[in-house]
Amino acid sequence: MSLPLTSSAAPTVAAQVAAAVVGRERETELLEAALAAGADVVLEGPPGTGKSTLLRAVATARSTTFVLVEGNAELTPARVVGQFDPAQVLEKGYCAEIFVDGPLLVAMRTGGLFYVEELNRVPEETLNTLLAVMSEREIVVPRLGTVTAEPGFAVVAAMNPYDAVGTARVSGAVYDRTCRIAMDYQSAEAEAQIVLTRATAPALPRAWADRVVDLVRRTRSHADLRVGSSVRGAIDLGGLAHHLAAARGRAVDDWHVGLDAALVALSGRVRIDDGAGRRAEEIIEELYRDVFGAPPSSDDGDGGSGEEDRSPGER
Ligand SMILES: Nc1ncnc2c1ncn2[C@@H]1O[C@H](COP(=O)(O)OP(=O)(O)OP(=O)(O)O)[C@@H](O)[C@H]1O
Ligand SMILES: [Mg+2]
Repeated sequence: MSLPLTSSAAPTVAAQVAAAVVGRERETELLEAALAAGADVVLEGPPGTGKSTLLRAVATARSTTFVLVEGNAELTPARVVGQFDPAQVLEKGYCAEIFVDGPLLVAMRTGGLFYVEELNRVPEETLNTLLAVMSEREIVVPRLGTVTAEPGFAVVAAMNPYDAVGTARVSGAVYDRTCRIAMDYQSAEAEAQIVLTRATAPALPRAWADRVVDLVRRTRSHADLRVGSSVRGAIDLGGLAHHLAAARGRAVDDWHVGLDAALVALSGRVRIDDGAGRRAEEIIEELYRDVFGAPPSSDDGDGGSGEEDRSPGER
């Protein structure tokens, strides 16, 4: 593989990221530039669009510490910043040596990346702590003193634009302090590549993976579905089909194997529109038939509904 021209022989961050992440060249470049400029960044995109994967790869390529916290109600300021070891306070008093750094302080002291998943779900108090660090690059910890962030430290947050929880509350203050990189769904081509590399299955047929991705993408625009599946559904479908096919002594692209794998991998991931009055299984099977055709006519017809108006997929 040829690497982009650089002044040193070491592979660039972009080249290293490309080895671990399918596509996303533009987002990699933007994230790199934002971090190099010392900015804090929000990655905004639906679930499964590779936000964590990209950031982890960038952190690894930059050889920086990468500390991840999940935004939820339990993420108190003390859990983020750290605290004095209560067992030792009585004996030693509030001295620096018994302070246990939380993930934010670890990232600040090592000049690393502090990655917050679901930033909009972080409790107000904790968010205020983060906002102060974003502005000042230092934090005053009661009884410990001021901790200053080492160069390279940055807060990178991920948010799902469709997540209604707390989104409005976060917007003004956070957006004013961060750069924003939108991460939309990957292209069909990239999703198929992701399935081939991530599914727990060796050598899935490419043409079949393309159809799996087509099926999964259709869940995102189906009129009766409020939420469709991310590429995670396609990855699981691929792995499931492989193992199911092995157990049944069938080919991985067997029609019935694929349908069962699709039902298991996707029916729990989609959300039915209120009032659609349908079951997820029904919609998944309908989409499966749209993409893969009716069951092969040589079958005993155990899954058939008599609707044989489409020919089975050409193979
Ligand atoms: N560009 C990509 N290259 C390789 N794998 C990817 C890519 N995008 C997604 N994946 C795979 O898809 C899955 C979901 O990706 P990831 O966890 O990075 O998404 P996310 O945007 O962080 O999702 P969430 O918002 O739910 O946290 C992972 O298994 C990951 O390996
Ligand atoms: Mg993530």
